[in-house]
Amino acid sequence: MEVTGTANPVRETGDGGDAAWGAPGAVLAEHLVRQHRLDESSGRIVRHALRHLEAFYASGHSLSARRQRVPVSNSPVPVESARLLLRLAIEQRVERSLEVGFAFGMSTCHLLLAHEVVDGAEHVAIDPFQQSEWYRGCGLVNVVEAGLSERLVWLNERSELALPELLRANRSFDLCFVDGSHLFGDILVDAHYGQRMLREGGLLILDDLWLPATRTVRSILLTNYGFSDESDASAPNLAVLRKTGPGLLDWTRFAEQFAPFTVG
Ligand SMILES: C[S@@+](CC[C@H](N)C(=O)[O-])C[C@H]1O[C@@H](n2cnc3c(N)ncnc32)[C@H](O)[C@@H]1O
Repeated sequence: MEVTGTANPVRETGDGGDAAWGAPGAVLAEHLVRQHRLDESSGRIVRHALRHLEAFYASGHSLSARRQRVPVSNSPVPVESARLLLRLAIEQRVERSLEVGFAFGMSTCHLLLAHEVVDGAEHVAIDPFQQSEWYRGCGLVNVVEAGLSERLVWLNERSELALPELLRANRSFDLCFVDGSHLFGDILVDAHYGQRMLREGGLLILDDLWLPATRTVRSILLTNYGFSDESDASAPNLAVLRKTGPGLLDWTRFAEQFAPFTVG
């Protein structure tokens, strides 16, 4: 784990695969091992990680870096959202992914698990508050205890500072998950930089569609930024958006480059 400041999506069909996504961790692990013909080492990691993640959701507590039991707030993505992130990242055959908002590490662990399944390269998670009194290193502990730390790069920075640096470094991603500050402007900034670094066909996923601010950013992305909606009924709180075209982003035609969007 480092700490510093394309493939075509394939839908699974048949073989009971769809049911496995709502099944207990052990069942999903066997499905993933079989479906992706994982070797012994990856199979062991996937089984262990899903056991750990299941225990996290069942317990309501998380271990801090100082081995204290920290009550889990409502900040981790719920298990159905986490499972959808895992499924989408696998279908995307993710190589490089980006996330804003680490917290207890549940989205992080599921995205890292997808990397293990498809042998991805790197997952970058941005969050300046991982070691604050709210999270006390719980996200890092969960990633390590799930056995998934190998591909994680954690940027201990505010996203509004870290994202432009990634863009300057010419980084590109297959999947970007936005779950950081939930103020409208911050979600928009995270989504704006996320889409700049997303390859064509990549996924930009927003958490917390229950918030009018998130729904407004989704509408901006759909109307002006060249995204299509691939949201999934299994996780209604996630906006799943695929970059399908250039959108209205040609600055040389700025006078025409605007479409009204829905607020709230
Ligand atoms: C809802 S929690 C994320 C939950 C996480 N995705 C999970 O599944 O466990 C929101 C996170 O955003 C982080 N955050 C708040 N403002 C931020 C910012 N400006 N840049 C990056 N992260 C930020 C908080 O520290 C918090 O960890």
